[in-house]
Amino acid sequence: MRLIIFGPPGAGKGTQAGLLGERHGITQISTGDILRDAMAQETELGKKAKSYIDAGDLVPDALVRDLAEQAIADEGYDDFVLDGYPRTRQQADWLTDFLEGHDTPLDAVLSLSVPDEVIVRRLSRRRVHEETGETYHLDHDPPPDDVDPDLIVQRSDDEPETIQNRLDVYREETEPLTAYYEERDLLVPVDGTGGIEEVFGRIEEALDALER
Ligand code: AP5
Ligand code: MG
Repeated sequence: MRLIIFGPPGAGKGTQAGLLGERHGITQISTGDILRDAMAQETELGKKAKSYIDAGDLVPDALVRDLAEQAIADEGYDDFVLDGYPRTRQQADWLTDFLEGHDTPLDAVLSLSVPDEVIVRRLSRRRVHEETGETYHLDHDPPPDDVDPDLIVQRSDDEPETIQNRLDVYREETEPLTAYYEERDLLVPVDGTGGIEEVFGRIEEALDALER
């Protein structure tokens, strides 16, 4: 299947994409993870992206286009779920053209909705493993005891003011893409509230319905 998992920061895109990978063999392609990796390794791309990411702004479209297209090509144009791409109208147009050019159109855009106050709680209590990028939540999904606590850190863009800016940027630039995918009959709204497994159950139901 060729999927997008869509939604505001902290909606659970990465968490749910990870479960799609573990349980259905659908590879997560997260432009955010690729950019954070590049930042950690201090590559040219990482250096260019850092100031945007730390401020909670979008990095320029041209910087993420190749990352996403290369990752899709590496997966053989199938069995992937895009997490965090596209985020602007320009990126969505590029993606549509790219996939149509390979005769591999999207199957669905799973759009998670979560109220802002829940998002802020999720993001302010999120922690990540510095080396593996594994995501935890201090209340709902704490790091296991055998993980070195010194490697558990907070993301640079999970400060309260930055979270607010990311939400504002999402509303302005990214949320309008729901109409874009609705017009193309690809949008599948998914209630993103409740526990991680509860949300995953809704995603599995939505995917079953698509296959019928
Ligand atoms: P990116 O990494 O994509 O961040 P984001 O969209 O802001 O989303 P998050 O990763 O913060 O949240 P998520 O929805 O994945 O939630 P998660 O599963 O972690 O992008 C970062 C930055 O990179 C951008 O700001 C931008 O600068 C740049 N960038 C990336 N892509 C770009 C693009 N295409 N164009 C331009 N710039 C780009 O869950 C959050 C927390 O909640 C976790 O702690 C988790 O454990 C917990 N949680 C999850 N689900 C539940 C649940 N059901 N119940 C309770 N807790 C839960
Ligand atoms: Mg994420």
